[in-house]
Amino acid sequence: MSAAMTPEQVKSLRELMMGTFYRGWNEAYFAGPSFESDMHAHTTRRFEECRDIIMPWIERYLPFEGKTVADIGCGTGASTAAWALKARRVLGYDIHGPSVEAAVGRMRIMGLTNVTCQTVTAEGLIAAFKRDLADGADAIVMYAVLEHQMVRERIDTLRAAWALLRPGGVLVLGDTPTRFAMMDYHTSLMPFYQWLPEELAVLYAHRSPRADFRDGVAASLKRGMPAAIEYIWRCGRAAGYEEFELALGPLDRLVVGDSFDEGMVDQPHRGVTLLDELIQTFAAAHDIRVPRGFLRPSLEVILRKPMHPDEPPPPRRPAPVEGLMRRSQVEELVRERLAQARAQRGGILSRARQWIRGLGVAP
Ligand SMILES: C[S@@+](CC[C@H](N)C(=O)[O-])C[C@H]1O[C@@H](n2cnc3c(N)ncnc32)[C@H](O)[C@@H]1O
Repeated sequence: MSAAMTPEQVKSLRELMMGTFYRGWNEAYFAGPSFESDMHAHTTRRFEECRDIIMPWIERYLPFEGKTVADIGCGTGASTAAWALKARRVLGYDIHGPSVEAAVGRMRIMGLTNVTCQTVTAEGLIAAFKRDLADGADAIVMYAVLEHQMVRERIDTLRAAWALLRPGGVLVLGDTPTRFAMMDYHTSLMPFYQWLPEELAVLYAHRSPRADFRDGVAASLKRGMPAAIEYIWRCGRAAGYEEFELALGPLDRLVVGDSFDEGMVDQPHRGVTLLDELIQTFAAAHDIRVPRGFLRPSLEVILRKPMHPDEPPPPRRPAPVEGLMRRSQVEELVRERLAQARAQRGGILSRARQWIRGLGVAP
């Protein structure tokens, strides 16, 4: 089994996606601006990201060789296939039938025989993996999934997944927008959208530049506000440490890896940004004791189940603002960004100034 995909495999995957995941989609979408990039993500990009970046990161904490891995929200199998290159056995679960059809086809095309993928209902997910994983799992991965679950499902899934992990096993969360992100790049493409109370988010959705999101919310609203609220959650609502604390208790002693780890933070989309600096400065100033990986715009953390209840917690990791940048450097960066903003738009400048003054980092 080879880790690299051949051009023939990529071609077969495209055909497979058209016959499964994209079956019945509006023809106009295929001529639109996002189709090619979305298709590339399904066939190649997401698989390669998981194989080349996420899997080596997880394997620093738990080598996959000989292990049983569950992939919750396996989608079209891009992440699942990456884990299957190393693990003994991978079980994928998803609520979307056409995606699971695609995942099953992908494993055939890629010659991966150690994977099973199945369609479940949101309510049936926990029962299904309890049944299949009666002996427990070594790793449970939720890659780009938690943001699509309703609050109750998030808490129940995290709790059930944790209960099924073997001692020393890991729960991995990746590529999930958090409530710290000011810009909602995931769903509405609007600033501060994830901070709105859900009813306001429904009513404000018509201002989104994303036509499919606007139209979807409008259509669901015809069935009433509760249906529209569920619709926006299913499209994707940011997550945070709160769901994890409610499901698992204090997080300090559970988190072993995060996206500030070497090999992650040096990736182009995971570098430390001004927003990271501000969040970490804010957390330090207000003594917010949440593991640093939860305080980023995108959630990528590895939680490890202790081998026994008395196992000492992993060493506390310093906030990277202390390690990566001195205060003077932060100020310099802020000044630089403000100058850029000044050159662009007066409105951004005055809002940024007000906000930064509030944090005590005067420009
Ligand atoms: C953005 S996709 C990610 C798929 C895959 N992990 C990957 O990286 O390619 C999110 C997936 O989560 C699934 N999903 C949403 N809510 C779910 C739930 N409650 N249980 C299981 N899967 C769910 C969706 O159907 C969708 O396929």
